Amino acid sequence: MSRLFNESDSQVLADIIRLRRDVRGNRFNDNPVSDADIDTLLNAAMQAPSVGYSQPWQFVVIRDSSVKQAVQQTFIEANATGSMQFTGDKRAQYDALKLEGILEAPVNLAVFYQPSETAVLGQTSMPEMGKFSVVCAIQNLWLMARSLNIGVGWVSILDPLKVKKALNAPESAELIGYLCIGYVDEFLAEPELKQKGWQQTKSATEVIFKDRFS
Ligand SMILES: Cc1cc2nc3c(=O)[nH]c(=O)nc-3n(C[C@H](O)[C@H](O)[C@H](O)COP(=O)(O)O)c2cc1C
Repeated sequence: MSRLFNESDSQVLADIIRLRRDVRGNRFNDNPVSDADIDTLLNAAMQAPSVGYSQPWQFVVIRDSSVKQAVQQTFIEANATGSMQFTGDKRAQYDALKLEGILEAPVNLAVFYQPSETAVLGQTSMPEMGKFSVVCAIQNLWLMARSLNIGVGWVSILDPLKVKKALNAPESAELIGYLCIGYVDEFLAEPELKQKGWQQTKSATEVIFKDRFS
């Protein structure tokens, strides 16, 4: 018989969703992340929904500091280019943000999309669905991590080809997410970019429509 959850179960899940945060390098502490912790996170990721049950994900668990350093180098270059896309006060604000924790995090996790060589049920009209499935896996992992009080930070300011080179990734694999993982002493109550005035929270009325956009 299938398990039915009660109201307090759903409240716990709502709290985990609400209190999940992106964690940058200034917040990780020294507590080690065990292989068992990583297995728990990857197990959550691998139970994500995927188009046609294709499970098109691949994960590289990184603890080696020379690999982290190669990735950090591509962050530095990409971040300089990223900063140039903002002007005036916004650029100064951008430059003051800490946007990764590659070296500070005890574990890095590179998450790849490995396309199928044959047609995938459900992916025949919208080819991006395979990549979106990998994002579902990352979100599962992120929520499971929060339930264990483990912080996760997603770093996307990277040259994916340079990351692939550093990891000896096969040509066919596409980088979807690069995550920094480690224990933290506390999680911010709200997104840091909101707290720092970079971006406001959108209201429900701005993003939810009934029946038609207008
Ligand atoms: C696809 C994706 C890419 C992201 N890339 C970065 C990044 O490169 N650097 C960074 O500091 N945060 C990154 N973030 C984290 C977002 O800034 C963060 O999720 C958002 O500000 C909301 O904060 P919260 O996750 O703490 O609720 C990324 C998040 C997502 C979903």
